[in-house]
Amino acid sequence: MAAALDYRKHKVLFIFLFCFPVLFIIYSLFLQLDADKVEFGIKMNDNLPNTESSRDKGIPALKTILYWNHFFGIENFTFGFGHQPFIDAQCPTHTCTVTNDRMLFNRSDVVIFSVQNMNLSDLPDIRFAHQRFVFYEMESPANTDPQPLLHERIRFGFFNWTMTYRLDSDIVNRDSYGVIVPRKLTLPSMFPIARRSDPTATERKSIGGNKKKLLAWFVSNCVTPSQREMYVEELSRYVPIDIYGKCGNLTCTDRSDCREMLRTDYKFYVGFENSLCTDYVTEKLTAGFLYDTVPIVMGGVDYTQFAPPHSFIDVKDFDSPKELAKYLLLLNETDSLYDRYFDWKPNFDVHLDTKQGWCHLCKLANDERLPLTTYEDILQWWVDDPESCNLPVGNTPIPRTK
Ligand SMILES: *[C@@H]1O[C@H](CO)[C@@H](O)[C@H](O)[C@H]1NC(C)=O
Ligand SMILES: *[C@@H]1O[C@H](CO)[C@@H](O)[C@H](O)[C@H]1NC(C)=O
Ligand SMILES: *[C@@H]1O[C@H](CO)[C@@H](O)[C@H](O)[C@H]1NC(C)=O
Ligand SMILES: *[C@@H]1O[C@H](CO)[C@@H](O)[C@H](O)[C@H]1NC(C)=O
Ligand SMILES: *[C@@H]1O[C@H](CO)[C@@H](O)[C@H](O)[C@H]1NC(C)=O
Ligand SMILES: *[C@@H]1O[C@H](CO)[C@@H](O)[C@H](O)[C@H]1NC(C)=O
Repeated sequence: MAAALDYRKHKVLFIFLFCFPVLFIIYSLFLQLDADKVEFGIKMNDNLPNTESSRDKGIPALKTILYWNHFFGIENFTFGFGHQPFIDAQCPTHTCTVTNDRMLFNRSDVVIFSVQNMNLSDLPDIRFAHQRFVFYEMESPANTDPQPLLHERIRFGFFNWTMTYRLDSDIVNRDSYGVIVPRKLTLPSMFPIARRSDPTATERKSIGGNKKKLLAWFVSNCVTPSQREMYVEELSRYVPIDIYGKCGNLTCTDRSDCREMLRTDYKFYVGFENSLCTDYVTEKLTAGFLYDTVPIVMGGVDYTQFAPPHSFIDVKDFDSPKELAKYLLLLNETDSLYDRYFDWKPNFDVHLDTKQGWCHLCKLANDERLPLTTYEDILQWWVDDPESCNLPVGNTPIPRTK
């Protein structure tokens, strides 16, 4: 039977298995940020890069970070230009400036390449020993064009650091995918766009009792490497699913209106990832949390590393879509069981659009003690799991009954 149901029987075990890894990982991510004391003695209008004159005046030199190209047409990589973004993000180490002016290449400490937007005939002619070339990627390998990585020069010994959503990246970057942080460790307005979940939510009347609909799915990509569509099709034989977007027959055009609907109407929300790759978990998880619904998740990740205990339902814990449907119907009928999925809310904050990764990049750029490093074969690192990354849960196709 569903693992989630066993929770009551093995409470102590679950506290260890679920809470401990979540707290530990989130806490260690946080330590990366917190290790430096915040230094605010810097003149706010100082946007000068690393120059002799700024050093003479006793102003800490800024490390220069160069965007070599754009990120899907976005020249500022959604982060911005100059020194200000690091101050706005309240980075503990903020002595960095970002530019896309290639005239500053020679004095750049870090050069960022959005790998999917790389032009193979437009690479730097030279590089300096102190520079770090950064592999920047936010899509999963299943949805990544491997072409740039097959290019010999780029593949072998080109990159020094990786900046991706993967937890084993040098710079773990969640950006718009969001993070969930234990509340006790959260500094006030640490992140610019943050929404504090309501601490009184569980003291008020039942969340489940107010919602009249069961399950919604917002989807525009109808055929995916994860084959999530097949799972949903099977699930829909047992429970009603409202499918919005190109792949369904319902429409909802305004993104935030659609999400508000989750808060008022839907008990559950399909948060399946398009591909099942290591650590690839997007805002599909986080958005469910922000809008007071329970995400049903499918991904190539250990969700306990990304979300608080008893906050989501993972299809991996069920033998079949039919078993999952039974469990959803049980929760639908039992408000007290359903409401338990919100018990974590007073203890965690959910942040979409986090700048944590950029802060960490700036901290590393300023760390003179770091050793020289190079990825000998970036393709091997990136496509670490070519088999399962493209296959459905459990590596076996989900059976379809006609
Ligand atoms: C980045 O550029 C886009 C336009 O492409 C703009 O809308 C956005 O506000 C910029 N973001 C930052 C943080 O500067
Ligand atoms: C950058 O450095 C190279 C090699 O030292 C030099 O040839 C080039 O003129 C420099 N470029 C700029 C813009 O200073
Ligand atoms: C790639 O770079 C080359 C050399 O700078 C340039 O001629 C070409 O137009 C670029 N291609 C694209 C698609 O931007
Ligand atoms: C939408 O699709 C569902 C399932 O295929 C079907 O039961 C329902 O009648 C459809 N609704 C409309 C408005 O066409
Ligand atoms: C969910 O529970 C409500 C309230 O008991 C009930 O009216 C509704 O029919 C249930 N939905 C499904 C799909 O069983
Ligand atoms: C970056 O990688 C290059 C190429 O392998 C290497 O020569 C250089 O020493 C590395 N730089 C740093 C700072 O690690």
